[in-house]
Amino acid sequence: KGDPRLQAISDAIRVIPHFPKQGIMFQDITTLLLDHKVFKHTVDIIVDRYRDMDISVVAGVEARGFMFAPSIALAIGAKFVPLRKPRKLPGEVISESYVLEYGTDSLEMHVGAVQPGERALIIDDLVATGGTLFAATKLLERLGAEVVECACVIGLPEVKEKFRRLLLRLGDQGEVD
Ligand code: PRP
Repeated sequence: KGDPRLQAISDAIRVIPHFPKQGIMFQDITTLLLDHKVFKHTVDIIVDRYRDMDISVVAGVEARGFMFAPSIALAIGAKFVPLRKPRKLPGEVISESYVLEYGTDSLEMHVGAVQPGERALIIDDLVATGGTLFAATKLLERLGAEVVECACVIGLPEVKEKFRRLLLRLGDQGEVD
């Protein structure tokens, strides 16, 4: 609150109405990535919050979580673990399904990627229903890791209150008339 970097981050996110379908206000973080200063502010704010929390795993959600999570992992001195869409990872995986508006999707993780007792941070660009982050959390917990928190660039205030999450930009996503 009161951090001018948060306003710069919010201003750098482009909102595209009715993409990918009618009624959705698409929050486009590619415009934030084009401004290296604002991109760095985004990573810095997350890194400042987690650097002294003894986190050894930063898990990123495909695809847009991959744009932030590795930089955060390097800065806090943690490993990066990709949580991928089905049938992308070549090794032994565990899988968690989540419900979409139409049908289901799932995320997969390599079983050897974390050890029991490791402290994990989960990163994604955006939380809407929370289904994706819930599945991500379950994957890490099934392997015995402790999910310290999830951090997203964009989300709704209701979501922030419901779960333990850091959100940098609040509000104005969702339905349009
Ligand atoms: C978007 C977003 C989150 C998820 C949030 O990903 O990047 O991962 O949806 O939605 P939820 O909170 O309702 O679960 P998308 O499925 O569009 O995949 P992409 O990042 O590969 O484009």
